[in-house]
Amino acid sequence: MDLADPLKYYRNLKNETMSLQNHWQKIYLHQSPDHLGWFQSQPLQVLNLIQEYLPERQAPIIDVGSGVSGLAGDLLAKGYQDLTLLDLSQAALDQVKNRLGPAAKQVRYIQADILSHQPSKKYQLWHDRACFHFLQTPLERVAYLKTLLQALALGGLVLFSTFSPQGPKKCSGLPVRRWGEEELSNELGSNFLLVTSQKEDHQTPSGSFQAYGIYLFRRIK
Ligand SMILES: C[S@@+](CC[C@H](N)C(=O)[O-])C[C@H]1O[C@@H](n2cnc3c(N)ncnc32)[C@H](O)[C@@H]1O
Repeated sequence: MDLADPLKYYRNLKNETMSLQNHWQKIYLHQSPDHLGWFQSQPLQVLNLIQEYLPERQAPIIDVGSGVSGLAGDLLAKGYQDLTLLDLSQAALDQVKNRLGPAAKQVRYIQADILSHQPSKKYQLWHDRACFHFLQTPLERVAYLKTLLQALALGGLVLFSTFSPQGPKKCSGLPVRRWGEEELSNELGSNFLLVTSQKEDHQTPSGSFQAYGIYLFRRIK
């Protein structure tokens, strides 16, 4: 990727998106959720944070890189009514639809690369567990932030889960960038204020633990 030439980057993005999409499609087509290192059937910490800081059940919520997480089902069960799931992998979105059964039609599904996605509505909560941490270059993160700023209402919340500085260096075979609270605050810049953060020790199917950081920010300008 050529950082000096953003246009070239955007031209390359399409090819990169295709290969990333294949990477994730293969995973979701060939592996069951309980064999995926990152899978959580009940993401309790995040669910509790959402209920505490966003009690309004009509508030629009987007889960970016939603995968096959149980979060959507849990949020519907708690009465949240305006959910959007976005993922590169159509197979992941289809699995969640099947799992939700009749409740699936209460959710919007978007198959897209978050770096080039053009949001068509404003959200009160942007949740991202383990999509942002794959972005290795400043230019990718600039593109991500651009989408985030287009999509998030002023006063809205951003809830990130990433590998923390003590976490692994790879996820699904891809290199990741690990984030601490201060670094991430600096990266997001003055539009966002850190509200709270937590540590999460996630247990993988093989029984090992991975150190995640959960960071909640509010958009202040
Ligand atoms: C490690 S998985 C986490 C899935 C889910 N958030 C969870 O906690 O189980 C990362 C997810 O992000 C998606 N993803 C990765 N890069 C993406 C991108 N640029 N745009 C949209 N989705 C992306 C992948 O398809 C995958 O489902």
